[in-house]
Amino acid sequence: MQYSAKAINAQKDRSDCLIVTLSNGGKLSPAAEALEKNGANLAALCKREGFHGKEGETLLLHSPTGTQAQRLLLLGIGAEKPGAAGFVRALGKALDALKNTPCKSLAFMLGEVDVEARDTRWQALQLAQALEASQYQFTRCKSKPTKNVFKPTKAVFGCAGQKQLADADAGLKEGSAIGRGANLTRELADLPANICTPSYLATEARRLGRKQPKLTVKVLEEKQMKELGMGALLSVSAGSDQPAKLIVMEYRGAAKSQAPFALVGKGITFDTGGISLKPGPGMDEMKYDMGGAASVFGCVQTLLELQPKINVVAVVAASENMPNGRATKPGDVVTSMSGQTIEVLNTDAEGRLVLCDALTYVERYKPQSVVDIATLTGACIVALGSQASGLFSNQDELAEALLSAGETSGDRAWRLPLWDEYQKQLDSNFADMANIGGKEAGSVTAACFLSRYADKYPWAHLDVAGTAWRTGAAKGATGRPVPLLMHYLLQQGS
Ligand code: BES
Ligand code: MN
Ligand code: ZN
Repeated sequence: MQYSAKAINAQKDRSDCLIVTLSNGGKLSPAAEALEKNGANLAALCKREGFHGKEGETLLLHSPTGTQAQRLLLLGIGAEKPGAAGFVRALGKALDALKNTPCKSLAFMLGEVDVEARDTRWQALQLAQALEASQYQFTRCKSKPTKNVFKPTKAVFGCAGQKQLADADAGLKEGSAIGRGANLTRELADLPANICTPSYLATEARRLGRKQPKLTVKVLEEKQMKELGMGALLSVSAGSDQPAKLIVMEYRGAAKSQAPFALVGKGITFDTGGISLKPGPGMDEMKYDMGGAASVFGCVQTLLELQPKINVVAVVAASENMPNGRATKPGDVVTSMSGQTIEVLNTDAEGRLVLCDALTYVERYKPQSVVDIATLTGACIVALGSQASGLFSNQDELAEALLSAGETSGDRAWRLPLWDEYQKQLDSNFADMANIGGKEAGSVTAACFLSRYADKYPWAHLDVAGTAWRTGAAKGATGRPVPLLMHYLLQQGS
C-alpha cells in the first residue's frame, strides 16, 4: 500500500472512498461541513438513517453529492475530542465498514480530528497500522484461498494544514512498518506446528537476513548448545525428533561500540506438556507457544524497514516440547548454562527452561536492556485476561519505559510484582531450584525463576499468554506485543 499525507479539499477529492468524521449529536467536522455547503445534505441523511456520530458508528454513502469521491464514509468518533483508545476503536470500525468494498484509493480526513493527549504523528501511525492489520489473512493452508475484496493500494492521511505534513508522513512510515511486522508475527504464529518447526524458524531468520547488510544471522545447533552447557534448553528438546535451534539475529544500526538492546523470544513451536502431558481439549492452540518468538521476528523485520540508529540483538530459543522415550521426566535434574541446577518437577513448565539459557547467552553482548517475550503461564490469562500482557522487571526505569510504550501504542502491559518473598516457592530438596512454584501466583513464580538468570543487566519479562492470540470463533494471532516493543525500541533511538 502506498501512503501519503496531503492537505485535501474534501469537495474536490476523487478517491474511491472519502472518510469524514462526525461527533456526538451528529456534529459535522470541518470537512463534513464543507461537503454540506456543497450540497451533500448530510444532516438530513444522518437524521433519516439514525446516525448520531457515536464512537464507531458508520454510514457508507454511494455516489454522494458534495464531493467528487465515489463513496463517502461517515465515521462517528463520539466525543469531539476523543480519547486515544476510542479513536483507534473508531478507526477499526471504519475499516470494518469498508471490508466488502472494492475501494482502491482511500482518503481519511483525520488531521482535523483532535485526539486527547495525542498528536498528528500518532494518529497517522495508528491509521497505517490498522490498514496493514486489515490486510492480514491466513491463506497458506487453504486449498482454495478466498481473496480479500478490500485491497486498497493508496491511502491518504488528510492533513488540516501544511504544518502537519511532515509529522503525518513520519507516522505513516512507522505505522505501516509496525503493521507489516505484526503481520509477519501473525503469519508465523498462525502456521501449524507441522510446518513451523524450530528449523523452519531458523530458515525464516536466514530469509530475513538475506541482502540485509545490517543483519547478521547465526543459528546455534544442539551440538554447540551442548558445548555451551545449555542443559536446561536441551532438556526440553530431548523428547522431540525436531532438533532445538538457538537463533541469533544481530541488527546493527549504530556504531559497534554502542551496547545493544536485547529481545529474547520463547519459541516452543508446539507444547504438548512433555511427559507432564497436557489435556486434549484446546491443545491445538499450543502451536501459539512460539508467539514470543514470532513477535521477535516481527520486530526484526520492522527494524530492517525503519533502520533506526540503535543496535539490537534478537534471540529466539526454539524447541518442540514432546514426550518420546528420551524425554525429560518429572524429577530429573538438569544443569543450566549459568551453572545453576534445576529439578524439573513438571515438564510442562518448559518455557522458563529454554529462556533461562538464552538469558545467560545474551550476557556476552553486555546489553543495555533485555526484554524476554513469552507465552509463559496460563495463570497470566487468569490474572489479566486478554487486555494486558504481564510485565515483570528488575529495574523500575525499564518497567516504566515499557509501560509507557504500551500506553502510547495501545498494546498495553500491566506490571506484576517480583518480590523476594515469592522466591522461596521455587525451593527444591534436590537441586538449586525447582522449575515450578506451586499453585499460588504462577506467573510471578515463573518470572522469579527467570530473574535468577537475568541479574547481570536491566531485564524485563512480558508474559503474553493472554495477548498473543485470540481463542474461539475468531481464533488467530494478534501480532502483539510488536507495537509495544517497537515503540520502546524507537524511543531508545530518538
Ligand atoms: N505454554 C504454556 C502456558 C500457556 C498455557 C499459555 C495456556 C497460554 C495458554 C506453558 O508452557 C505452561 O504449560 N505453563 C504451565 C506452567 C505450570 C506447569 C507451572 C501452566 O501455565 O499451566
Ligand atoms: Mn508448557
Ligand atoms: Zn509452553
